[in-house]
Amino acid sequence: MTTPSTDFATVGTDYAAYSEGGRGLLRHEIVARRLVAELGDGPARVLDVGCGDGEMVLRLAAAGHHVTGAEVSSDMLERAEEKLAAAALADRVRLVEADIYELPFAGEVFDAVCCHGVVMYLPDSAEPVARLARLVAPGGILSILTKNALAVGVREALQGEYDSAVAQIESGRTASMGNLGYVTRGDTPEHLDRLARDNGLTPLPWQGVRTFHDHLPKNWRPEQEVFAKALTVEWAASTRSPYRELGRLVHTVARREANA
Ligand SMILES: C[S@@+](CC[C@H](N)C(=O)[O-])C[C@H]1O[C@@H](n2cnc3c(N)ncnc32)[C@H](O)[C@@H]1O
Repeated sequence: MTTPSTDFATVGTDYAAYSEGGRGLLRHEIVARRLVAELGDGPARVLDVGCGDGEMVLRLAAAGHHVTGAEVSSDMLERAEEKLAAAALADRVRLVEADIYELPFAGEVFDAVCCHGVVMYLPDSAEPVARLARLVAPGGILSILTKNALAVGVREALQGEYDSAVAQIESGRTASMGNLGYVTRGDTPEHLDRLARDNGLTPLPWQGVRTFHDHLPKNWRPEQEVFAKALTVEWAASTRSPYRELGRLVHTVARREANA
């Protein structure tokens, strides 16, 4: 199996706008904070598959880790190269053009394998998770961020798109329009945790990401002080029920036993 169902070369600019806006930043902050906590002092070997424009590569390299970004879109990879050159982190970063189904890392393992905002665009999560899990070192973690199938219709209902919301809520259908104008597929945290177990990993507590701010406009860019408060409330909600179940995205983390 090869290549994504979506040509990201055509959405790079849209993605950058989303990624740098309030909603994108909330997601990056919450996921990066969790990963930095899980990785400890390091430096850890990190692989970020489908790294896009390199936002998480940059954040984790800035935290002192050695990060490899793998990305299928050459356009996205160029954006990542530019961003990383500006941050002067090249000595800790390697960027590789690669498809998640054909990763060129035979014989290598990583202390963290990340795949954020990618499997929702792929036909299913089982094969990608199996491929990623193989690259997790003993004691290392697998970090998956994707659309949360528990929260179907929530964004649409809060945005007043009632027909779409009721159709999704009544059917439980998880495919819906994503941020970039492509239909995306959701997974439940339970399913992702089961896939992790099937691949020899032990699930850690999962997070719901963006419970209260997902329905805001794409160009929502709050003042720094407001953003900090929004982040505080989203972080608190991310690990607690019933809030985390309503997050637009689900972040699962699973660890391979150190003596595995
Ligand atoms: C929504 S972006 C997320 C980027 C980044 N991970 C982040 O969280 O900001 C999805 C990325 O996955 C990449 N992608 C999609 N299918 C892929 C595949 N089969 N193999 C590798 N990367 C893929 C796309 O090119 C795109 O850069």
